[in-house]
Amino acid sequence: MVQLSKTPVKPAKATKETNLQKEQHLSSGKTPMPVTIQRRDLTPQDETNIIGSGTYGVCYKGFYHGNIPVVIKSFRKSIQRHEVQRESEALQDLQRTQHHISLPLLFGVNLDSLSFLLVTQLNGAQDRTYALGNAIKEKLLKFKQWVDLAIQLARTLGYIQSCGWLHNDLKENNIVVHYISPAWNPVIIDFGKSCLIKKAKVKTKQHDASRYPWIAPEVLQYTSPPSQASDIFSFGMILKLL
Ligand SMILES: Nc1ncnc2c1ncn2[C@@H]1O[C@H](COP(=O)(O)OP(=O)(O)OP(=O)(O)O)[C@@H](O)[C@H]1O
Ligand SMILES: [Mg+2]
Repeated sequence: MVQLSKTPVKPAKATKETNLQKEQHLSSGKTPMPVTIQRRDLTPQDETNIIGSGTYGVCYKGFYHGNIPVVIKSFRKSIQRHEVQRESEALQDLQRTQHHISLPLLFGVNLDSLSFLLVTQLNGAQDRTYALGNAIKEKLLKFKQWVDLAIQLARTLGYIQSCGWLHNDLKENNIVVHYISPAWNPVIIDFGKSCLIKKAKVKTKQHDASRYPWIAPEVLQYTSPPSQASDIFSFGMILKLL
């Protein structure tokens, strides 16, 4: 059983102006605060219901209010509040007026104590979830269905860009497939590295390029900020897998 720490976290305080600014809303300032989810309204997160893990944390399959299937992303303790807020803000901003079928539906966040939580709709079919990589390995879809899925992915990327956002980490395990009768739809998840196009900055942190084949070379070589073109590069790498 993984015990989530209940270490209290101080509310955002102006210890450093820059931190406070980061913790404030990151786009136009018009995105409302995400709903706070109470931990008691979520089923416990234990090893038996882990559905994935990565750089940012562990994702659990669980229920909200007893019977609403959700993904509970439990962030590593090193992840700062503003990083969780950035992910939730992107999801909210992209779905201000209505839910987009190929984007995760955000239920809310919990930033009261470590580990921070972000709760979204569970995507999959019946009782299973499928990251795109697994769906490919398991030959889940037929040729025509893969083509439709690729078209829907391209449309969703176009939509994200038309809203002024970049995803910045499009890869096979950041796309899951979701069945809504009669079709499979891609859902682009993990907006942890997303940013507004107008705020994209050249990377300064050293990266071993061979470990990030889905990231455009100009971004890894620190010559250009991430851009619409670099997200399209990553999309092209996904197409190669289909
Ligand atoms: N809405 C969802 N529906 C189904 N599965 C999901 C969903 N969200 C996340 N997952 C699963 O959990 C995994 C990890 O989620 P996510 O990409 O958000 O975490 P991460 O720590 O940022 O991962 P990484 O650093 O590897 O990109 C995904 O690859 C996927 O298998
Ligand atoms: Mg991911």
